[in-house]
Amino acid sequence: MKNFYVFLGPPGAGKGTQAKFVAKMLGIPQISSGDIFRENKKNKTELGILADEYIRVGELVPDDVTIRMVGERISRTDCDAGAILDGFPRTPNQAKALDKMLEGMNCQIIQVPYIAVDEEELVERLSGRLTCREQGHVFHKKYNPPKVAGVCDFDGSELYQREDDRPETVKHRIRVYEQQTRPLIEYYKERGILVKIDGNQAIEQVTGDLMEMLEKVDESNG
Ligand code: AP5
Repeated sequence: MKNFYVFLGPPGAGKGTQAKFVAKMLGIPQISSGDIFRENKKNKTELGILADEYIRVGELVPDDVTIRMVGERISRTDCDAGAILDGFPRTPNQAKALDKMLEGMNCQIIQVPYIAVDEEELVERLSGRLTCREQGHVFHKKYNPPKVAGVCDFDGSELYQREDDRPETVKHRIRVYEQQTRPLIEYYKERGILVKIDGNQAIEQVTGDLMEMLEKVDESNG
């Protein structure tokens, strides 16, 4: 049975930061729906142009488009041992579609870390976020600065501020999260696979809590 993890949490909670680390540790891919959309935008594909209309204003990309895209991605062979899903699912429809896809692949969601962060902190994190052009590595002006200002530590590419990280758009993204994504907390809680992580802590502490969660999953799987 292949094991999938769903990283849940509001925009700016640190899903991407933590998912990259955990994926490396477990040797499975991190699949971020936001990163796939941005990659498509960079390559000026039809999907990228369509998705950008929604992303720019802080709305969700329609379910049918997103589900098809993630379905194709998780069917690739690099997900043979499982994957970390970062930013997907984001609506009850997407969650149900994911269940169906995984059932068809003889896979399961083993754990859903829900990274909870206060709203004020989210705005602070997103307004200071710097993203690398080449591979989407993430930094923060204050909390996680690059070694050289404006340059990615990992691939040397330019760091930029995402268009949807402007304060007005951030506030709207948080509202959209509350309305459309928050119901997933209950959805996974009822299935007994939701683990709440205090995301207000420093990056390393959040990583520590996630590692503890993973060790417990490992123990309970024998
Ligand atoms: P996406 O790229 O997924 O954005 P998001 O969910 O809004 O999440 P973010 O990437 O903004 O935040 P994060 O939680 O990953 O935080 P990060 O680690 O970067 O989606 C963008 C858009 O694409 C959506 O708005 C939507 O339009 C569309 N989309 C994507 N998926 C979709 C789907 N499934 N359905 C429909 N539409 C979809 O951290 C943030 C900052 O904080 C960084 O600067 C970081 O360095 C810093 N930081 C992280 N942790 C800490 C910490 N503990 N302490 C201090 N600073 C920290």
